Amino acid sequence: MTLSAASLYDRVQRVIPAIEWPVFSDDIDAILKLKRERNAVILAHNYQTPEIFHCVADIVGDSLALARKAMEVEADVIVLAGVHFMAETAKLLNPSKTVLIPDMRAGCSLADSITPQDIRLLRQRYPGVPVVTYVNTSAAVKAESDICCTSGNAKAVVESLGVPRVLMLPDEYLAQNIAKQTDVEIIAWKGHCEVHERFTPEDIREMRAAHPGVTVLAHPECPPEVVAEADFAGSTAAMSDYVGREKPASVVLVTECSMSDNVAVEHPDVEFIRPCNLCPHMKRITLGNIRSALERNEHAVTIDPTVAARARLAVERMLAV
Ligand code: 13P
Ligand code: SF4
Repeated sequence: MTLSAASLYDRVQRVIPAIEWPVFSDDIDAILKLKRERNAVILAHNYQTPEIFHCVADIVGDSLALARKAMEVEADVIVLAGVHFMAETAKLLNPSKTVLIPDMRAGCSLADSITPQDIRLLRQRYPGVPVVTYVNTSAAVKAESDICCTSGNAKAVVESLGVPRVLMLPDEYLAQNIAKQTDVEIIAWKGHCEVHERFTPEDIREMRAAHPGVTVLAHPECPPEVVAEADFAGSTAAMSDYVGREKPASVVLVTECSMSDNVAVEHPDVEFIRPCNLCPHMKRITLGNIRSALERNEHAVTIDPTVAARARLAVERMLAV
């Protein structure tokens, strides 16, 4: 059966009110058709809204899964429903494909917090100390790094290097959260995710008081004091897996708002308490601009070949861990 908006509504009816559906259905049908015509696939991050995540995406996941799966795409065109660094990573790993990002302004406060020059200066200050760079960075920053990591593999990456000390950039809170799990000394930078830095330990305590017995899952981009109040901390994929495995009666995902909608679709028996923060960058991606990306071939991601060769090495080293 060919997919259509009408056949997809059942899937998302728990999180998209019927009255809103007509706003989406025309774009969904157009995107499904354009994907066939252009031999395109859509990769969507867990923070995309449910009409994107559940209705037009072919591949969904956390940053690590999207990177791994981008490498295996055989279609001609990849549309990255996520932020710019994710589209760059897909282009690095599958350079012969056209990689489109529907809005070039879909950035990231972490990626904006560090430049290649910052890394060169850090290398002078800490000679011989390997540089582990979070994937939430530009290709130019990755090119100055020894290896990348995501929130899903940061501890394994740091420990894979077999050294007593690493620089882990640019997320200060991720670095501090990982430092608590390893004997490797971690030197951090001062970047923060503008979504996760806003959560406080008081927020968690208030949620627990208002919803006794609630399970609290937090993303490791949250400050360590927030992670300390949670029952579990992990990447967006790890949080989603936790809900599937443990099936808590009620849960709060201390992260971007769309995560709860997307996971709730799969788990009708779990109650989701929904204090969350919106990522303005992720929210720049809409069905409307995914449709025009496919219609107009916009905006194709390009990376300087010299930068790309070095950045690819850092990402590939990560994938080999
Ligand atoms: P993960 O999906 O890798 O956990 O990353 C979260 C994030 O903030 C991506 O921008
Ligand atoms: Fe960047 Fe935070 Fe938005 Fe992820 S949620 S894209 S880390 S600003």
